[in-house]
Amino acid sequence: MQVVRTVAELRELRSQVTSPVGLVPTMGALHDGHVSLVQQAREQCATVIASLFVNPTQFGPDEDFERYPRDEQRDLALFEQAGTDIVFMPSVEEMYLEGDVTVVTLTGVSERLEGGHRPGHFDGVATVVTKLFNQVQPDRAYFGQKDAQQLLMIRTFTRDLHLPIEIVGCRTVREPDGLALSSRNVYLSDQERTQALALSRGLKRACAAYAAGLRDAGQIRALVHDQVDAQPLADIDYISLAHPGTLVELAGDIDESAEGTALLSLAVRVGTTRLIDNVVLGES
Ligand code: PAJ
Repeated sequence: MQVVRTVAELRELRSQVTSPVGLVPTMGALHDGHVSLVQQAREQCATVIASLFVNPTQFGPDEDFERYPRDEQRDLALFEQAGTDIVFMPSVEEMYLEGDVTVVTLTGVSERLEGGHRPGHFDGVATVVTKLFNQVQPDRAYFGQKDAQQLLMIRTFTRDLHLPIEIVGCRTVREPDGLALSSRNVYLSDQERTQALALSRGLKRACAAYAAGLRDAGQIRALVHDQVDAQPLADIDYISLAHPGTLVELAGDIDESAEGTALLSLAVRVGTTRLIDNVVLGES
């Protein structure tokens, strides 16, 4: 595995590797969710390039950029074990040139849900992912369904800008008890960790109710709400049942003929830690 820190070194290596090239962008603090993305890329691509960059522009002023977990040596060992060929680990100065004025902004899909609660977040994500796409020029890029809106936004600008990259969505990896893996789970105290289970439990209850025939969007949201609201340390940002392509909220009965076409997602603060999770109803 080779580790490079500059765009020039990356380009040099990129020009020598075998296609197809798969890119796995990460902010480090790796867990089995990240590893599963690398493994999927490994199975499908001749060359796997991962990036490790805690991107300052996607954190709000009151968010956790400074204290975001960082452990370079551990991350590099995990990337290597998972079969990564090249790790790109740029500095902030390498990624954002002095005096740069260019930001990639989407309307519509990036304004709702996370976009509404974290102003500027998706501008930061879209800008850094566009840079990575241009720097690495991958044939495929791998992203987790855990961040469903991020995945949708990346699919959208890749299509809109005619980028010749296949975006591959990868399933959410969970702890045995259901909690979706996240780099931020390390912030949770034992008590918060227990109460955080209400997110996945709520989604699971909603899936079961959907499988049993419940179709009313309001009642489905309420099932999740009741689970989470029962936890004293949990504070709900949003619970959404929306069209997975537009993220427009659904009302009344979900279309019975359109299986797998409703994205149930939520964002909850447990203590000071903000967690997100989602499922697509009707999807196994
Ligand atoms: P990060 O949070 O490090 O996540 C990197 C990738 O891992 C994302 O595609 C994310 O969806 C995926 N991921 C996270 N948790 C997962 C889980 N439990 N199961 C499966 N995949 C999971 O997302 C980012 O970084 C950044 O926004 C980034 C795209 C790198 C741009 O800075």
